Amino acid sequence: MTGGTRGLGLAVARRLATEGWHTTVLGLDPGRLEKVRAMAEAEQLPLRAVRADVTSEESVREVFAEVTETGPLHLCVNNAGRNLSRLLLRRPRQDTGGGLLTHSLEDWERTVRLCLTGVFLVGREAAAGMVRQGVAGTIVNVSSGLAAGAYGQSAYTAAKAGVEALTRTWSYELGVYGIRVVAVAPGVMDGEALREKSTALPKHARYMEGLKRFVPLGRWGTEEEVADAVCFAAENPYVTGSVIRVDGGGPPGWVP
Ligand SMILES: NC(=O)c1ccc[n+]([C@@H]2O[C@H](COP(=O)([O-])OP(=O)(O)OC[C@H]3O[C@@H](n4cnc5c(N)ncnc54)[C@H](OP(=O)(O)O)[C@@H]3O)[C@@H](O)[C@H]2O)c1
Repeated sequence: MTGGTRGLGLAVARRLATEGWHTTVLGLDPGRLEKVRAMAEAEQLPLRAVRADVTSEESVREVFAEVTETGPLHLCVNNAGRNLSRLLLRRPRQDTGGGLLTHSLEDWERTVRLCLTGVFLVGREAAAGMVRQGVAGTIVNVSSGLAAGAYGQSAYTAAKAGVEALTRTWSYELGVYGIRVVAVAPGVMDGEALREKSTALPKHARYMEGLKRFVPLGRWGTEEEVADAVCFAAENPYVTGSVIRVDGGGPPGWVP
């Protein structure tokens, strides 16, 4: 379970562990990893937390070597990812003068490396581990309701569209080993990430409140509802190559 130290990832990891899956959570922040360990101990969950960077081939290889030594790998949830809001082009504020501002290559590469290359590296090691162990396991990739494109989201939406393409491609390639690959695409969730950003930026909170009326169900989702979909993907033996959308029917990527 990558990115399981906070937000959606933590909710999914906790749910899986509660249902009896022996779960290893991967994350970066030592303090958050420690909190997950303390939670697992307090709640007596079969959950451990290990530091690994999904954007580093070496780190991913090392952690999968260790995880597959500890037992059979039945499930890999590729969740680590972070949204980035950037316009492709932006006019500078009038009082500052200067020329047109553009989306930096650095922002593009940082987001694609985490949200797409990370999924590739982790998915590849997970699939290889399952095949070596003779396990017909499942890979669940967390996409986004914005994968079809969204205003101000070049890098993130391209990466998530790539995640959905990888899901389909791997379902074709790995079916022969009995490995299923499923994507879960959440809409906006009323979770840790949204609450933190809305508290820090009241303007963002107002924008998001306005956006809610474009969701057919009229509310944001919960992390538990996404965890339900991950469990379904993990457990239904005839589902592969699909994208399960958990987004209340929207919202659209562009609201005029
Ligand atoms: N929140 C939403 O409304 C929403 C909607 C649609 C899709 N999603 C998708 O759901 C997933 C989780 O989103 P979230 O909002 O829960 O994110 P989040 O709160 O920002 O958490 C991101 C997680 O990824 C981990 N992470 C970041 N960089 C990493 C790296 N290089 N290697 C290993 N772990 C790393 C973080 O660990 P550390 O804290 O230890 O660094 C953290 O556990 C993402 O793929 C996101 O695109 C979220």
